[in-house]
Amino acid sequence: MQISPSLLSADFSNLEREMAWFNQSEADFLHLDVMDGVFVPNISFGFPVLKHVARICQKPLDVHLMIVQPEKFINEVKELGAYYMNVHAEACTHLHRVVSQIRQAGMHPAVTLNPSTPVGVLEDIIEELDMVLLMSVNPGFGGQSFIDRTYAKVRALRQLIDSRGLHTRIEVDGGVSLDNAQQLAEAGADILVAGSAVFGAADPAEVIRRLK
Ligand code: DX5
Ligand code: ZN
Repeated sequence: MQISPSLLSADFSNLEREMAWFNQSEADFLHLDVMDGVFVPNISFGFPVLKHVARICQKPLDVHLMIVQPEKFINEVKELGAYYMNVHAEACTHLHRVVSQIRQAGMHPAVTLNPSTPVGVLEDIIEELDMVLLMSVNPGFGGQSFIDRTYAKVRALRQLIDSRGLHTRIEVDGGVSLDNAQQLAEAGADILVAGSAVFGAADPAEVIRRLK
């Protein structure tokens, strides 16, 4: 299992200290949640802040854009040196075009689905994706409870990916902890995002190790 801890639950007053232990940890990615107060009812941090985070983070970046018209920011995300650029299917009228643009920019395109969006919307785009991010909470806040329906969605997505012989990764985001990681792995998840479970722990590096 790969782990992508979410910076949203980090201590923003001392990101250098957070990145010091994080860089030494077994985390596979750093998950960055960008919010606009329109697509989701909250605002987190923007590119001027992330530019500094990217400079001191030594792990590949997994950028999750919870914003309308994410295609406007492909260059900004590219300049961060992002590995994955996640856009919400619900935020893109022309999802195929946006995914192509992300690929052309040299990043790995990923599409995110809200809890109420069925896996079936990916039928005609899945071949173009390197990852699908299934939200297991309604996006916008850290520390929410995991929605149990997600297990069935992970299984349905695993089935879609395997039936087409693809290697698309499955990532799950929201309310992930040591209590549900095992079940998510069994359902077919490849990467788990964890915010409060990691950054809120007394020994975050140990939680990452156990989640893996
Ligand atoms: C929620 C974000 C998540 C969030 C997860 O909108 O997309 O990445 O940081 O936080 P936890 O793990 O605390 O639910
Ligand atoms: Zn996220």
